[in-house]
Amino acid sequence: MREDFEDLRDEVRSCQKCELHQTRKNAVFGEGDEDAKILFIGEAPGRQEDEKGVPFVGHSGKVLDRMLAAVGLNRNEGIFITNIIKCRPPNNIDPIEEHQEACSRYLKRQIELINPQIVICLGRIAAYNLLGPEYKVTKDHGRIYEKDGMYIMGMYHPAALLRSNQHKEEAFKDFLFLKEFLKRFDDPDSKIDNSNSKN
Ligand code: URA
Ligand code: SF4
Repeated sequence: MREDFEDLRDEVRSCQKCELHQTRKNAVFGEGDEDAKILFIGEAPGRQEDEKGVPFVGHSGKVLDRMLAAVGLNRNEGIFITNIIKCRPPNNIDPIEEHQEACSRYLKRQIELINPQIVICLGRIAAYNLLGPEYKVTKDHGRIYEKDGMYIMGMYHPAALLRSNQHKEEAFKDFLFLKEFLKRFDDPDSKIDNSNSKN
């Protein structure tokens, strides 16, 4: 599996499948544990991510790290972080559909190889991409969906938490719920609580 993962990483690094390769400094494949239980998916690299080739290392990344720490998680343990789009859209514009489509094979393969217990969509763009256009972050954040044999949950994008204390409180609850939800995989006697779930 490691080999497949490295091959995929190399493929992304040198990918020229959409025009974003012309303006990127570094494609951002993603970072973390190849056997992660939680796969976080953001939108696209920003300026700092493009500079370093690592996801969520700017302001949003600091917020994400703080949220993880608040519930006793950290990005170096059991977590993999990536984005829908692997190269930075110039001027941080919302990734357009054509780019999402061009890049989708990489994410699909990452999900297959990592096979996480749960996928977390950070923000609207990731949630639309995985859960469809009906998804509304304000209404549906923190809800567990079952799709294609996977559990998927959407949350506010960390950047949204910089702008709203209310969103921050709600996100904190979602992180706590996530932590509780994951415990159930380790406890054979407990049924997965799907009271929050939607099919
Ligand atoms: N925002 C994202 O959605 N992804 C990153 O990697 C950084 C900021
Ligand atoms: Fe390739 Fe995705 Fe980068 Fe486009 S955004 S060049 S499809 S890796």
